[in-house]
Amino acid sequence: MGHVAELAGVSVRTLHHYDGVGLVRPSARTAAGDRAYSAGDVERLREVLAYRRLGFGLREIAELVDDPSADAVAHLRRLRGLLLERRDRADAMVTAIDKELDARAKGKRVTPEEQLDVLGARLYDAIGGAYPATRRTDPRIAAQIRDALGDAQTVLNVGAGTGSYEPADRAVTAVEPSAVMRAQRPTGAAPCVAAAAESLPFEDRSFDVAMAVSTVHHWGDPTAGLREMRRVARRVVVLTFDTDEPRWQDRFWLTRDYLPEFADVLADFPSLAAMAEAIGARAEPVPVPWDCADGLFEAYWRRPEAYLEDHVRRAMSVWTRVGPEPERRAVRNLGEDLASGRWTERNGDLAGLDAADLGLRLLVG
Ligand SMILES: C[S@@+](CC[C@H](N)C(=O)[O-])C[C@H]1O[C@@H](n2cnc3c(N)ncnc32)[C@H](O)[C@@H]1O
Repeated sequence: MGHVAELAGVSVRTLHHYDGVGLVRPSARTAAGDRAYSAGDVERLREVLAYRRLGFGLREIAELVDDPSADAVAHLRRLRGLLLERRDRADAMVTAIDKELDARAKGKRVTPEEQLDVLGARLYDAIGGAYPATRRTDPRIAAQIRDALGDAQTVLNVGAGTGSYEPADRAVTAVEPSAVMRAQRPTGAAPCVAAAAESLPFEDRSFDVAMAVSTVHHWGDPTAGLREMRRVARRVVVLTFDTDEPRWQDRFWLTRDYLPEFADVLADFPSLAAMAEAIGARAEPVPVPWDCADGLFEAYWRRPEAYLEDHVRRAMSVWTRVGPEPERRAVRNLGEDLASGRWTERNGDLAGLDAADLGLRLLVG
């Protein structure tokens, strides 16, 4: 224990504490029969200490290192992303502070927006680490996107995240503003540029097609981002969400009966018609298969128990955006309704469906 403490730069007391709370237990024995750290224990200790240094609490760390879906490589990628994100954020803060110092030195008024610029928070830098647990390409949705891409050879994927739905047989360039998401792109994935949709660093008509999947609702200015896509590519393909239909939130039992706050999240989202107009596109429905492989918000419409799972919800931004109280209430009520049979009473007819139209739309222009 003393040797490991010295190598790791922590006190023996800290190691005893981690042992006591079950975070890192020395699972091997020396020849003399004393407890010792195996190579696996040291790997786990390294992860615990790295997350600790990044400011995570011990309870959060326990959840992270016990996540069965994350191996050592996944942890290294996540840690790398978190560190890059911290570096990016520090750079952005220094730039914003310099700007404000300059403005103050010149006696200029600093607006509240400019003051908040210093914080520069981004949702996916905070929640992106949980994304790969359930978010991946669904083959049926991928086939529909592929059809829409047609014979395009050069493809720009905006808000690319970890690279789901990027066609392997075309020349893809990805754009992704979150360092955490960029760091989780698999080895060999398409090259990825750190930028945002609203200001794409490419010449006019640089690509055959620009695509964007499950991302437009995160953009600060969706219409500006869509126009940028239109500018840099000859064609545009966007998977987004339809809020034009009256009472659209009743399409899905989850928003209708458990999470009406979802409507507030999309309150400022442009209408489907306005988005289609910005890129000169037509809209086609994207049915969500009952066994959708991509853990998006609507994916588990026929598998309601999934929404009770924390790791499933953490990979869906909606839950972070509505806040902890509505989330707790929705999960509690859904759990109770599933246990009492009330959910099945209200939604039993879904069992006979293979796919459902829950408002996902593909804009093809
Ligand atoms: C739900 S993920 C979708 C990722 C990927 N397209 C997929 O289908 O798995 C949304 C992504 O949009 C990115 N994003 C957020 N704001 C953006 C912006 N202004 N421009 C481009 N991408 C943005 C996030 O960082 C995140 O990676």
